[in-house]
Amino acid sequence: MVSLMEKIVSLAKRRGFIFQSSEIYGGLSSCYDYGPLGVELKNNIKRAWWKKMVQGREDTFGLDASILMNAKVWDASGHLSGFVDPLVECKSCHKRFKLDDLKGKKECPECRGQLTESRNFNLLFKTFMGPVEGESSVVYLRPETAQGIFVNFINVLQSGRAKIPFGIAQIGKSFRNEITPGNFIFRTREFEQMELEFFIKPNEAEKWYQYWLKQRLNWYLELGIKEENIRLRGHKKNELAHYAQDCSDIEYKFPFGWSELEGIANRRDFDLKRHAQYSSQDLSYLDEKTGEKFIPYVIEPSAGVDRSLLAFLIDAYEEVKGGRTTTTKSVKEQEVVLHLHQDLAPVKAAILPLSKKEPLVKIAQDIYQELRRHWICQYDEVGSIGRRYRRQDEIGTLSCLTVDFESLKDKKVTVRDRETMRQERIAITKLVDYLKGKLMEVV
Ligand code: GAP
Repeated sequence: MVSLMEKIVSLAKRRGFIFQSSEIYGGLSSCYDYGPLGVELKNNIKRAWWKKMVQGREDTFGLDASILMNAKVWDASGHLSGFVDPLVECKSCHKRFKLDDLKGKKECPECRGQLTESRNFNLLFKTFMGPVEGESSVVYLRPETAQGIFVNFINVLQSGRAKIPFGIAQIGKSFRNEITPGNFIFRTREFEQMELEFFIKPNEAEKWYQYWLKQRLNWYLELGIKEENIRLRGHKKNELAHYAQDCSDIEYKFPFGWSELEGIANRRDFDLKRHAQYSSQDLSYLDEKTGEKFIPYVIEPSAGVDRSLLAFLIDAYEEVKGGRTTTTKSVKEQEVVLHLHQDLAPVKAAILPLSKKEPLVKIAQDIYQELRRHWICQYDEVGSIGRRYRRQDEIGTLSCLTVDFESLKDKKVTVRDRETMRQERIAITKLVDYLKGKLMEVV
């Protein structure tokens, strides 16, 4: 039997969502490329996050910091010394494992060989800046976008005339030399994060922590994740990262089990304090009303773009046994529908002329050119209309617009809704307004 993960991986490749990186050279382990539909879905996820976390709020600012930073940043943040996973190696097959993943097993899970003692493995990717490779030219690919925010705290505070509480948000690539990447795009060595550092008064930490837990869980629900597939899980004390006083994960019920989508942490004043100490700069905040000077605490919701994308794909995936397209009653095969939220669906409308010949093609092309000015659309004139509906359902296209011979007379097209499969005749001149009403972003 083909597993759900295998079906998702196959759909992702077949329909141009996600490809193995450098595939023609045999690929590169745990690296993936987002194809034409994948990049649209990814951009839509990032846009939905940005709208919620920056555009829609008065108390947050956006940032795009560089990936390469002064190496002292990682000393101050604790990543040079503390960002490690205990690693063991099998003496027979030489496979490496994270000690935590072995859950107390004393022999190799692959070949039952003897394991080495564990040693700490640092997950930072290291490289050199400039032509000389030496200690002084070492730089690291950032393992989290957060530090770019902390080192810009004063810049944003002053340039934005910000008042606490306020947040700085950033979306960008991060890199970790994971020992055991896997589960498709769930754990990779290069991935994208969406992070907010929300700066607050220390005595308000618990209030804001609870606030962000609720906000972030709601974001996934608003974007269509089914309630039964998502949950919050508080960390036990021994799970907490070196900087965190408290942390909860938003977990999704992936086919391989409940796993982290996003972490929400109370990072205290750990990072700003350390950067103040290591840079000898004053990173404190002056409350002008009270005259009080302090290092703010930070609540950090930190989400993964790739993991969200995988969760949205899995959650939206449905196989309809016996088919759902009404025009091809003889079709017994099962059909796939991606019920992606309208803000996330990569293609908003598909234009389908019933004939490949003039004058239908001209009308359909004119509609296509007009709608493309507003949304990502597709034009498809190949195959039966039922087959074309199925192709669009499989990628989650919201509306299919059929141009038929009636269109020549009544200047209308049939608009079919992906969810209800209801069909409506809409005047060609009213299409943009009609779709604008339907596709208005809700988040
Ligand atoms: N700044 C805090 C931080 O980075 P994290 O829990 O290590 O916290 C936050 O990472 C999110 O980044 C995770 O919830 C996950 O969505 C994503 N993430 C972390 N490591 C990842 C990996 N190797 N591959 C894909 N996504 C990853």
